[in-house]
Amino acid sequence: MKAVPGEGPPDARIMFIGEAPGFNEDRQGRPFVGAAGQFLEELLGLAGLRRADVFIANVVKHRPPNNRDPEPDEIAACSQFLERQIAAINPPVIVTLGRYSMARWFPGEKISRIHGQPRWIGERMIVPMMHPAAALHQPQYRTLIEADFRRLPEFVAQAEARIAQRSATAAPDKPDEPEVQQLSLF
Ligand code: URA
Repeated sequence: MKAVPGEGPPDARIMFIGEAPGFNEDRQGRPFVGAAGQFLEELLGLAGLRRADVFIANVVKHRPPNNRDPEPDEIAACSQFLERQIAAINPPVIVTLGRYSMARWFPGEKISRIHGQPRWIGERMIVPMMHPAAALHQPQYRTLIEADFRRLPEFVAQAEARIAQRSATAAPDKPDEPEVQQLSLF
């Protein structure tokens, strides 16, 4: 069994978080490389994004046996890795794919109720989306997830604008204090 930590540019502006690796991901050590991954790439295309531009990770970093749902202790064991990935990449926008990653920010919510509705949590915009695997073969969900992905560029633009505005109005950095630096030489 391989670890599937995730992949993407370290300065990605948008991060997608799925559930857990499946059979193909386990073999290759890369996230979303099977059928759900192909569909995710199509969806990224609807949003004008390429896979190479975004960071893709999962809540759980190893394949659960027989593709069963992740268990609470597996999610807990992997959460420190996910937290550190989020902190290191620091993306303005996170898209959760499916209910396990949604639950990290929206515990107790239903994906059918909140999908496609971005919310600000701290300094980040979190956009809950359905899981591509759930939508792939079900025409009514497929239409919904495609519509949600088409709105992604609008959400990213909103997030970037808000972050730019915040940094423009933030207090300027304290000027350097050469005397103090000088004194510390003695
Ligand atoms: N489904 C996921 O949630 N993650 C993957 O990496 C592949 C399929």
